[in-house]
Parts: sequence; structure tokens; C-alpha cells
Amino acid sequence: MKINHDIQLSDGTLKHFLNINNLPKSYIEDIICRAEKLHGSSEITAYKGRVVASLFFEPSTRTKTTFELAAKKISADFINIDIANSSTSKGESIIDMIKTIEAMNCNMFVVRHSVPGTAHYIAESVSSNIAVINAGDGSNEHPTQAMLDMFTIKKHKGSFENLKVSIVGDILHSRVAKSLIFSLNTLGTKAINIVGPKKLIPDSYAEWKVQYFEDMDQGIENSDVIIMLRLQKERMHDALISLDSYYEEYGLNQTRMLRAKKDVIVMHPGPINRGVEIESSVADGPNSVILNQVSYGISVRMAIMSILFDNNNL
Ligand code: CP
Repeated sequence: MKINHDIQLSDGTLKHFLNINNLPKSYIEDIICRAEKLHGSSEITAYKGRVVASLFFEPSTRTKTTFELAAKKISADFINIDIANSSTSKGESIIDMIKTIEAMNCNMFVVRHSVPGTAHYIAESVSSNIAVINAGDGSNEHPTQAMLDMFTIKKHKGSFENLKVSIVGDILHSRVAKSLIFSLNTLGTKAINIVGPKKLIPDSYAEWKVQYFEDMDQGIENSDVIIMLRLQKERMHDALISLDSYYEEYGLNQTRMLRAKKDVIVMHPGPINRGVEIESSVADGPNSVILNQVSYGISVRMAIMSILFDNNNL
């Protein structure tokens, strides 16, 4: 197996968790398997004394909070760095801040930043005994979200091979969409549809094993899983679309749900914008597993952190 030194130790195990792209299938399966074991478990004490620092340069409710809960459930200490009030506002560089926190005997950094590659850059700069997790880097990847999404699909659908999964919305700016597509491909998903206005679909989609639909009704036809995405207005430099026509053409409502399979599950990484990409009755309805995704995020992040602690002998 080709070793990617970004993510793997010389023995082939995972050192950091930065990408889903090119991550071997067995690594994804190991994380899902460990998350299954940890799901609903009582407190794990094996990682007592380990220190995890979160560095969120972009807002977050779900990811940051579930990382904190997950760290506490495996008995690690969790430091929430308040970026807005940190010394970066006095001109300190990210790397000087990292080195400063390293000096406080921190073992792991969880990083979210608007610039693609920031977590990778930090991973290259930290001492050899420190692990870095990418909690979302701009429009590049959100690998822990993809893992909790895979866990959700496994829990509700059992396996991936025979599924049709439709991902709807702003694919262009979505790190979630990219990590999702990479992981679904690796796990052998039969059909992956991407659906949205042409302006919100990257040219690079031709390199992915997906089928593009501009028409939502066609794109979600007979789907087993529908994953709705938020319009990432913070990453749009121009007003690319009108919200009214977007809801009309791409909003998931009760009428459109009839196009999918009866037992379709509806997912959304959050935050949801009701009346923009999804109708409330669907978001809160019987097919929705949106809040399950949030809960599963705790077990999946426990799994990822504990695997990295084990691999790095921390
Ligand atoms: N899914 C997700 O990344 O949500 P937050 O921005 O709330 O962390």
C-alpha cells in the first residue's frame, strides 16, 4: 500500500485525520466498527490525561460540541481555544499559537478554518507525537462529517453497495459533499446522484463517479438516501441564485418526497435553513434522520480520536 505521510505512520496506520479522498476502505470500515462498539458505551477511562485542543476559526455548533463531548466521554481533557479573543488578534501566527499550546502538553488539535489545507499545514508543523484532525477546511473536505454520515447510512440501511444516494444543493462550495462522495465511492455505493443548479456544480464532478441531474425530481427518483445541503452563502462571492426560485426548484417538500423510495432517509449535515432547501414537515418528519446524525457524531468522533491516540502511542 502506498503510504501517504500526511495521514499514515510508517507502519501504515493513520496518524492524522485530514482527508477522506484516497483513504483506504479498511480505514473507513475500522472507524465505523469502533464507533459501533463505542455507541452508547459508558465512560472510557483509557485516555485519561490526554489533552485535545479545538481551534475553530469558523463558526460551529455540531462539530465543535460533539468533539468536546466525545473527548470527555473517553476521559480526555478538552481545551476550547477562543480564537476571537486569542493572541492571533495581536498578530501571533497560527504556527506560533500551535507551538504555544503544544508547550502546554497538548496531544491533539482539532482544526476548522476557511482556508483549504490549513489542517494539513498544521499537521506538517506539529511535533511528531501530536495528531491533527481536520474539522472542515474551506470548501475542501469535512472528513469527520463524512464518517458520521457513513455511520448513519450503515445504521439505517445496513450496507452501501445497493443504494442510490442523492446529494442535493450547493455542491460547488460544500466540503461535506466532497468528503461524502469520496467515502461513498470507496464503500462501493451503486449510484451517487448530485443534484443542483449548474452554477453550483464544480467542473471537477466529471472526475467523480457520480451522475449529475439539474432536475431535482429526476435526481431523487427512487433514492434510498437523500442528503440535502445548505447554500454556503459565506463562500459565494456573487449572488449566484435567487432564494425564491431555489426553493421552488430544489427545496425538499412532501410532494417531492413521493419521488423517492417509501423508506428513504433524509439527511442534512446542518445547519438547516427551513424554507430555503427543506420544508419543516420533511426536516421534522418520519424519514428524517438529521438529529440522529448529530448524536452519531459523538460516537464517531470518539472512535476517530481513540484510534489516533492508539496509533500514535499517546
Ligand atoms: N455539520 C457541521 O459541520 O455543522 P457545524 O458547522 O455546526 O459544526
